[in-house]
Amino acid sequence: MIQKIITICNAKGGVGKTTSTASIGACMALMGKKVLLIDLDGQANLTLYYIPNDSEIEVSIFDSLISGEPLPIINVKENLDIVPSSLEMASAEIALTNLLAREQILSRLLDDVKQDYDYILIDCPPSLGIVTTNAFLAADEILVPMTPELLPLKGMRMLDSFITSLQKVKPSIHLSGVFTTRFNHRKLNKAVENVVRNRYQDITLQSRIRENIALAESAGSGNSIFEYDPNSNGAKDYQALTEEIMNR
Ligand SMILES: Nc1ncnc2c1ncn2[C@@H]1O[C@H](COP(=O)(O)OP(=O)(O)OP(=O)(O)O)[C@@H](O)[C@H]1O
Ligand SMILES: [Mg+2]
Repeated sequence: MIQKIITICNAKGGVGKTTSTASIGACMALMGKKVLLIDLDGQANLTLYYIPNDSEIEVSIFDSLISGEPLPIINVKENLDIVPSSLEMASAEIALTNLLAREQILSRLLDDVKQDYDYILIDCPPSLGIVTTNAFLAADEILVPMTPELLPLKGMRMLDSFITSLQKVKPSIHLSGVFTTRFNHRKLNKAVENVVRNRYQDITLQSRIRENIALAESAGSGNSIFEYDPNSNGAKDYQALTEEIMNR
């Protein structure tokens, strides 16, 4: 078992965090790796990706974070498990505030299960609070998807200072990869991407994800892009990105 924990985060909403977590995880699982997905977002989009009928979910990541119950792991595909989120996670920032060692609860919970997995992928909410701190302190790698629109650098600067503050608790913490999502061959996209690639030269991933409608459609289907439309640009791009991540 490789036992690598990868957090996917960006303070900005709608940049493809959840789509990337779902797709990279599915690709790894198809390559025979044992994968666990963790949904930390109260919107529960990652959960809905693989469990479209969320009334089936009785226990969520919230119960584990707050009450210390074992992680509720649900198998959704061959080699692919998920710990679901629920609407209650929207109140997690407040619920966690008074707990002891509240920043490292997820890390401890994962210690109990990581021996069973090659990769654990964590999908974050679009904010930098206690929940995201838990995801960062649990991670071996932190990947940042970004859309090449105006001002992604503002979000990146927030992330940089968030990381700097966490380094006081865990000095080894750092961003390990930045990749482009929802790429369109417009002039603006290219210009913004170049700025980001210059600033994050050492950690820029070469594979980029193009804007692709099949990715948006697959979200409500209960299937990954690889089952929904294996010949789509979305499937090709996420396969290339996943290989790059695994081979680094
Ligand atoms: N490459 C893409 N091409 C087209 N649509 C995409 C692509 N990536 C993501 N989308 C769509 O864009 C929307 C936002 O993507 P996603 O939910 O993955 O972002 P997110 O960063 O997780 O958002 P949030 O911050 O709200 O959690 C979704 O409707 C998704 O289906
Ligand atoms: Mg999301």
